[in-house]
Amino acid sequence: MERKPITTSTIRQMKEEGTPISMITAYDYAMARNVDEAGIDMILVGDSLGNVMLGYSSTLPVTMDAMVHHTQAVVRGTKTALVVADMPFMSYQASEEEGLRNAGRLMKEGGSAAVKIEGGAEVCQLVKKMVTAGIPVVGHIGLTPQSVNQFGGFKVQGKDFAAAQKLLDDAKALEAAGAFAVVLECVPAALAKKVTEQLTIPTIGIGAGNGCSGQVLVCNDLLGFSNGFSPKFAKKYRNLHDEIVGAVSEYISDVRDRSFPGPEHSFKIDEEVLEKLY
Ligand code: KIV
Repeated sequence: MERKPITTSTIRQMKEEGTPISMITAYDYAMARNVDEAGIDMILVGDSLGNVMLGYSSTLPVTMDAMVHHTQAVVRGTKTALVVADMPFMSYQASEEEGLRNAGRLMKEGGSAAVKIEGGAEVCQLVKKMVTAGIPVVGHIGLTPQSVNQFGGFKVQGKDFAAAQKLLDDAKALEAAGAFAVVLECVPAALAKKVTEQLTIPTIGIGAGNGCSGQVLVCNDLLGFSNGFSPKFAKKYRNLHDEIVGAVSEYISDVRDRSFPGPEHSFKIDEEVLEKLY
């Protein structure tokens, strides 16, 4: 059955109905086609692009141009899912005007249906302006990787009273500013559940337990693309690292012993033509 394109209204409705929302990152056309075909609700062109695709040790070096480039590729591979593009580090922190223009670029040039921005109350004025300009916004609180240097590492957030109350207040402020969903990253499960119950907009958890309205994972973590570090919260559904290394090793061996290409991968020519050659 042909699926209908998912919009921000679909996502709000899913929250109202209590239907869990599935979200995954993708950074290119090929992956977007596959996750869209699988029936994912939302695709995030995350600035985790910097870590998993570009080999940086944080998301900080990711540029607006890189985000636009990868968002375009993902949008070309997507038929149904709602594509959300991340606002990278320093694309909105210097001024609201710059933030608004950059959010506009992700939609106008990148083709995304929405943007995601890290931060709580401090970004709400900008969120309001974006929403007023017709840009749907997903908030992102808890562990916000662009502030990793301020946090002093990748740590669970909101564990004491003050931090937990701030998280709840930030979530409510984002809702009041017009965000249509909010990502909760690395937050104790019971706190994420409480936040979810107090909001009318959906929460999308990553390392935030199963009491959120939906879940997001980085596609490379879910697929086991590398045999390196994987965060505690990331369930590895497949081990593509071993599949890829195994397949390429077989190819190398076939090339070396000349068993590839076989006749089925080769093209023919009439013997007569060959014989005429001098
Ligand atoms: O960039 C990203 O992949 C993200 C997710 C961790 C939510 O922001």
